[in-house]
Amino acid sequence: RAMTQDESKLLAAQAALALLPKSGVIRLGSGSTAKLFIDGVGQLVRKGQALVGVATSDASRSQATALGIPLLPDDGPWDIALTVDGADEVSSKLDLIKGGGGCHAREKIVNFASRINVIIVDESKLSEKLGEKWPVPTEVLGFGHESTLRALERFGKVTRRLRDERPWLTDAGNYIYDVHVGPIDDPADLDRRLRAIAGVVETGLFVGRADRVIVAGPSGARELTLPR
Ligand code: A5P
Repeated sequence: RAMTQDESKLLAAQAALALLPKSGVIRLGSGSTAKLFIDGVGQLVRKGQALVGVATSDASRSQATALGIPLLPDDGPWDIALTVDGADEVSSKLDLIKGGGGCHAREKIVNFASRINVIIVDESKLSEKLGEKWPVPTEVLGFGHESTLRALERFGKVTRRLRDERPWLTDAGNYIYDVHVGPIDDPADLDRRLRAIAGVVETGLFVGRADRVIVAGPSGARELTLPR
C-alpha cells in the first residue's frame, strides 16, 4: 500500500518531536503538518515535559489550549528555542513559500525570534525554484487595497483569496493577494521589491530562514542539506 500524504506529514512531524528541548519556549506553527506536530507536543506536556508555546494563528492557539499546552502572550518579546512549522513550497536552496493558510506575517515575525527554525514537509512540497508550484501569498492592508493590487499586478497575475465568494481576511483583518510570478530566480530580491510597495504588510517568501528541513515520503523521513 502506498503511503498517503497525511502519513508522510505525520512522519515528518514525529521526526521534529525528537528535536524538542526538555523544557523551554517553542513556537507552534500553522497548517495541517504543524497540527500533527502540536498534537505530539500536547502528549509530551501531559507526560510532564515543561514546554511553553507561542502560537502563530488562532487555530494553533485553540488547538494548544485544548491540549493544555501553556502559551505566552502574543505581544512578545519572546526568546524561542525552537520553531517547528510547515511550508507550502521548499526550494533546492531551502528557501520557502509560506502563507497557504494566510498566517505568514505572524509566522515571519516569530521565525526571526527563534534560535532554530525547523520546517517539516512531505515530498510534494519540493521544487527546484520557488514559484514553480505556488504563487506568493501577500498580506495587504485593507486601506487602499485596490491600489495596492494594481502595484502587485506589475509582478504577475494576482488572485484575491476568497472564502464563500467573499474576501477572506487574515487573523489581523488584512487581505491576502496571491501573486503568480512563476519560477523565481532571486527570491530575496522579489521579497524586497514586493515589501517596498506601500500597503504590503508581508510576503510569504522566507529566504534563508530555515535552519533545518525535514522531508518525509514513502522511503521515510530525511533531512535536506544545502548543495555545496
Ligand atoms: C500557513 O500560513 C502556512 O505557512 C503553512 O505553514 C503552510 O500552508 C503549510 O500547511 P500544510 O502543512 O497544511 O501543507
